[in-house]
Parts: sequence; structure tokens; C-alpha cells
Amino acid sequence: MKVYLQFLLIVSFVLNLISCGKKTETDAMGNPVEQKETSVNQTPEELGKELFEGKGTCATCHQAKAKVIGPSITAISKIYKDKKASIALFLKGEGEPLVDPSQYEIMKANFAITKSMTDEELDALETYMLSVK
Ligand code: HEC
Repeated sequence: MKVYLQFLLIVSFVLNLISCGKKTETDAMGNPVEQKETSVNQTPEELGKELFEGKGTCATCHQAKAKVIGPSITAISKIYKDKKASIALFLKGEGEPLVDPSQYEIMKANFAITKSMTDEELDALETYMLSVK
């Protein structure tokens, strides 16, 4: 009987060791919690950059300083700062082209993407573009 108890003790000790080795976070109910990469600490500027280079595909036509297909980001942001205009509104299709109206049709095609974005995302794009030096 004594040996049997010792055996049980050892078994539970070993089981404990194994379960401690697994680093799964659990919630209050003991369910495993997934470790996600959260973007909680992302600033609007960082979100804007991510959208500009990613989902928005804006970087294909807009570079920081050089004109490629579209005007440079700094050329755009200078004009928007001077005129105190809103890039976010323009991207919603609610503004007038202020930078290069003759090429507006090319830019207009992107409203399909930007109109599907949330206000937060459009504001982030604006914040990013205005921050580019
Ligand atoms: C296919 C190329 C192309 C892509 C992609 C593109 N643009 Fe443009 N963009 C242009 C051209 C060309 C102009 C100049 C015409 C104009 O000023 O409206 C322009 C102009 C602009 C302007 C100035 C508008 C004004 O007042 O004249 C802003 C702001 C802008 N783009 C933001 C963006 C953002 C944000 C994205 C991504 C969501 C983007 N663009 C994607 C070609 C592009």
C-alpha cells in the first residue's frame, strides 16, 4: 500500500512537470488563450504607412520625394497643408483635385479602394502623408 501511494505521488509529480513545460496561457475558465500579434500600440501614422504601402497600393504611384506616376507625397502634403484641405475627404471622393487636376482620372480609379476604407483608416493615411518629410 505504501509503495502504491509513492508511485501515485511520483506519477502526479511527473505529470505536473510535463504540463508546466507547455507554455499555454489560459483564461479564467482554464481555456487556452491564443497569443495574437496585436496592433494595439500602433499609432495612426504607422497604420497609415502600412495601408499606404499595403492594402492601399498607393506606394506604386506615390514616392516620398520623387514624382513617379503620381506626385510625390511631400508635394501633395505641402499643398494640402497650405490650403488646409483634407486628404481624407479627397479620398472619399468628396474633394476637388488640388495637386494635378489634369491627371485626376488616374487617381480617381483608386477611390474604389479608399471608399471601402473606414474613417479611421483614411485619417491614418492622411496623418501618414502629412508626416512624410
Ligand atoms: C495608379 C497610380 C496611383 C495610385 C495607385 C494612387 N495614386 Fe494618388 N495620385 C495619382 C495621380 C496621377 C495623381 C495626380 C492627380 C491628382 O492630383 O488628382 C494622384 C494624386 C493624389 C493626391 C492629391 C489629390 C489632389 O488633390 O490633387 C492624393 C492625396 C493621393 N493621390 C493619395 C493617394 C492614396 C492615399 C493612394 C492609395 C490609396 C493613392 N493616391 C494611390 C496616382 C495614383
